[in-house]
This record gives sequence, C-alpha cells and structure tokens, in this order.
Amino acid sequence: MKTADIRRDYQYGELHRHDLADDPFSQFEQWLTHALSEPGIPDPTAMVLATVDAHGQPSQRTVLLKDHSAAGFTFFTNLDSHKSVDMATQPRVSLLFQWLTQSRQVIISGTVERTERAIDEAYFASRPRASQLGAWASHQSQTLHDREALDHAFEAQVVRFGDGEIPCPPEWGGWRVTPVRFEFWQGRPSRLHDRFVYTKHGNKWVISRLSP
Ligand SMILES: Cc1cc2nc3c(=O)[nH]c(=O)nc-3n(C[C@H](O)[C@H](O)[C@H](O)COP(=O)(O)O)c2cc1C
Repeated sequence: MKTADIRRDYQYGELHRHDLADDPFSQFEQWLTHALSEPGIPDPTAMVLATVDAHGQPSQRTVLLKDHSAAGFTFFTNLDSHKSVDMATQPRVSLLFQWLTQSRQVIISGTVERTERAIDEAYFASRPRASQLGAWASHQSQTLHDREALDHAFEAQVVRFGDGEIPCPPEWGGWRVTPVRFEFWQGRPSRLHDRFVYTKHGNKWVISRLSP
C-alpha cells in the first residue's frame, strides 16, 4: 500500500461545546481518565514535548507526565539534556498528547520552570531502583562511544551504591509547565473534526471552536 493511501475515518465520538468543562484542567482530567480506562492505549501519559533552542530551532521528544493539576504539568528528566538546555534558555514549550484509538489529541502551550528540589527528590525516591541507577549512569543527550560504555557505567553505579539508598543525582529533576492555551481535538468523519481552544484572559479561560 502506498503511504499516500493510508488514511482512516475518525468514528470514535463527538465533542460538543456543552460537553466541555469550564476549565481546561478538568477537561484534560476527564480525557486522561478516559484514556487510562480504555484498554489498548500504550503509555497514555506519554506526551511529546517541543522546545526551542537559542537559534529558534525547535526539537521534540516524548516524556511521561508525572503530575498534573491547576499548578501545572510536571515531567522529569536529565537537567543537562538537550531539552533542559533549551528550556533553561527559552522557557516556552508545547506538549502534545495523542490518544489515537480514541481519535483524540490535546495540545498545550505554556511556560516552563524547574520544580523544587524536594519534589525532584521525592519522585526520584519512588522510582524503581534500576531506573535510579540508570539516571546516575546516563549522561543523557551526550555522545556515547558504544553500548558497552553505557553498560559499564551502569555496572559501576551498581557497585558504587551496593544495597544503599540511591540519592537523586544533582543533574536530574523536574520541569513544570504552566499552560496558557489548551486545544482539545476530537476526530470526526469526513475530516470535519471538533476542535476547541481554551485561552486565558486574566483569570478566566475563554473557549472557542476552531475550524478543523
Ligand atoms: C514512551 C516514552 C517515554 C519517555 N519518557 C521520558 C521521560 O519521562 N523523561 C526523559 O527524560 N526521557 C523520556 N523518554 C526519552 C525521550 O524521548 C528522549 O529520548 C530523551 O529524554 C532525550 O531527549 P533530549 O536529548 O531531546 O533531551 C521517553 C521516550 C519514550 C518513547
């Protein structure tokens, strides 16, 4: 089959203005809960994070959402990574959730800031031990000579920490996105999709429908 011929009609459901919660955080919570309850969605908390570097060059990668509330959307990563360097320079990002079995997409844009160290440490402590060791072993986004170098670095951390507690590496922590805009997209047949945008005006969220 030719790539150009790959398409499907989106039949999953409809999104009406009267279905929407007044605030986008509640609307997001409803859709995430729905995604979590539906079988067959791998990594429902996965989101694509877009950042921009000092030259205006955008880049994207997937990260896992670890907390969300009206205070923001939090994820964790290496603080020396490509994405972290970008965010430290240009603290504006975009997040994209895709729940394709439900023909749904949510796009959030906003500003980003580092989480408090206590939050980093509490979440790091809750991670599986192997992930903690991996965080110490990997200099994320740096060039690696070969796979063995990574495996050796991991083994060195296994020996280093033994059975002891593994602290949060100084170069590892979280970022919290404060949204200024949300878009909820529900695929519909004939490409006549439902799109609703929440934008912040003062303390109020204003909802508008966009043409698909
Ligand atoms: C499903 C999935 C979940 C991921 N979750 C994370 C995450 O929570 N944190 C993270 O640093 N990288 C995560 N990654 C790896 C990133 O996509 C990326 O490769 C890495 O963070 C380095 O990105 P950078 O070099 O652009 O900074 C995940 C990848 C996938 C596919």
